[in-house]
Amino acid sequence: MKRIALLLLILPLLFAVTGCSKGKPDSLAAIKKAGKIVIGTSADFPPYEFHIQDNGADRIVGFDIAVGEEVAKDLGVKLEIKDMKFDGLLAALASGNVDIILSGMTPTDERKKAVDFSDIYYRAEQGVIVRAADKDKFTTVESLKKAMIGVQKGSIQVGIAKKQIKGIADAAQNSDEVKELGKLSDLVLELKSKKIDAIVVETEVSKAYVAANPDLFVAPFVFPDSDGGAAIAVKKDNAALLEAVNKTLARLTAANAMPGFVTDAKALMEKL
Ligand code: ARG
Repeated sequence: MKRIALLLLILPLLFAVTGCSKGKPDSLAAIKKAGKIVIGTSADFPPYEFHIQDNGADRIVGFDIAVGEEVAKDLGVKLEIKDMKFDGLLAALASGNVDIILSGMTPTDERKKAVDFSDIYYRAEQGVIVRAADKDKFTTVESLKKAMIGVQKGSIQVGIAKKQIKGIADAAQNSDEVKELGKLSDLVLELKSKKIDAIVVETEVSKAYVAANPDLFVAPFVFPDSDGGAAIAVKKDNAALLEAVNKTLARLTAANAMPGFVTDAKALMEKL
């Protein structure tokens, strides 16, 4: 009799423990309960994500935002955007300040140690922006060897600038000729005011900035991007959320929706 009583006591406990051993409660449940999904982004990256003035009001738009809206729609929740410096995104995800990162983020092996990534939803190459006045000066990677290069802090472009342009073996090593700033928009201002000579950035983004700034120019060479493109970052051990995000991406891919999102984002760039 006692044994049965004990078993009755222990059984629910066992259930609770095995339920938990599958992982901490998935953030998908928390997102649905809150009725919103919070995406972290660095809105300085047209056409992925950028600020526009919409009838006097500041709005963040871009094709990453369109993807985020589809994720929210599939989950039946609202979308909230938190804009921050790119190098603060992984910490914001780790601390639960944001639910996912949608910021043109490249799924590198280094980052995979800290977060999980969705399937890749967009591929791009890496290039360089210079001043239009310097367009005949910087025509090759070699011509940038002595130039002052700007890159977004925490981005893969830091490695490109140091390793592929400056020939420094370790991307973590400081270089007087590579300036790292949190916001790409600040790098563009520094380029215009001649504090730096070039910015390493994705070609898609370089074209966007040059379209909005006739005094800038896209240099005529690219760097191969072996890590290959942008993916959504999700906190580790959140299988259900990761699966949901991938499901939305698969739906968008099947509907061939991404080209339309990119075109729409580019149309909005006139208001940059
Ligand atoms: N793809 C690059 C990386 O992952 C740069 C992304 C920058 N994104 C942004 N929204 N500023 O490092």
